[in-house]
Amino acid sequence: MALRGIVKEPEDLLRKKSRPVEVFDKKLWSLIDDLKQTMYKVEGIGLAAPQVGILRRVVYIDLGEGEGGVELVNPEIIKQSGFQREIEGCLSCPDKWGYVKRPLHISVKAFDRHGKEFQHKYSSYLARCICHEIDHLDGRLFVDIVDEFVDPKDIKEERERAKKRRKK
Ligand code: NI
Repeated sequence: MALRGIVKEPEDLLRKKSRPVEVFDKKLWSLIDDLKQTMYKVEGIGLAAPQVGILRRVVYIDLGEGEGGVELVNPEIIKQSGFQREIEGCLSCPDKWGYVKRPLHISVKAFDRHGKEFQHKYSSYLARCICHEIDHLDGRLFVDIVDEFVDPKDIKEERERAKKRRKK
């Protein structure tokens, strides 16, 4: 495993569409493991492969709520319903925060690291994070679809509280 650098705005690579994974081999596994290691190191809750410079359709999400992480290879949202509007940020867009509209419930079709296809339903916070990460695979950032930016100072305190909660 290796830590990888986070690609940040305005890097062109973040705007590119990632290619599907076709081979589920050790190279893929080490990419997933690097994503995990890098994400935990920078204390993120989700990371997509293009954010570490690899244009492949792979994302890793862990809200830190003790349920473990979600690895998705070639994820596709096949159904969505409901509505939520919450504040998002992104490791690739430092110091930018804002309200984004997302579906409240999603059904996702994806593959695991061994190439086994599965479907799963996600709601609320997790659904929002998965939508955000899948957007990265299509070269879309939350700042492109943001409803309203918020002052980073206003939410810094709340973020620190959330971080403390996760560490307990
Ligand atoms: Ni992001």
